[in-house]
Amino acid sequence: MIRMKTSLSEEIEALLNKQVQMEGKSSYIYLAMAAYCDQLGFENSSEFFFTQSEEERQHMLKIFRYIADSGGSPISPDIMEVPQEFGSFRGVFESALEQEIAVTKSINKIVSAAYKEGDHSTANFLQWFVREQQEEEFTARKRVELFDVIGEEGIGRYMIDQKIPEIVPPESAADSDI
Ligand SMILES: [Fe+2]
Ligand SMILES: [Fe+2]
Repeated sequence: MIRMKTSLSEEIEALLNKQVQMEGKSSYIYLAMAAYCDQLGFENSSEFFFTQSEEERQHMLKIFRYIADSGGSPISPDIMEVPQEFGSFRGVFESALEQEIAVTKSINKIVSAAYKEGDHSTANFLQWFVREQQEEEFTARKRVELFDVIGEEGIGRYMIDQKIPEIVPPESAADSDI
């Protein structure tokens, strides 16, 4: 079938829709993490994950709109099998880091596919996400490191929860939009 209304190839459109799903699922995973931390009594971490959940929803919408604005057909995703249990306070942050690494790999895959097809518009659009993932991974790693730097004994976990809001992206990434 000749695609008249969009310069997005079917492959790129499918990859972008998969990414919509992944960002949406991330949003729901972070929501589960917010509840989990709240149940453990770690309020700052819970708040952090609520905010993170909202951010991932914005990422989902950004890609959704790009597909629509490019003349493609964005798909509102099915979100299933959201994990609710993360083993431990530390486990939550380890899962969050793993999740961000998986997202980075997925974004990179689409950028490579876009360049391969000569789709510079999509490759250019995704540069924002490339920078965003650099920041997300950096800060997610720093949060996990708190568990080793501070230690979990005594009031350690309380102190870690206090430090969570203080973790910010490196200076080099400070010029990005959001
Ligand atoms: Fe994201
Ligand atoms: Fe993220």
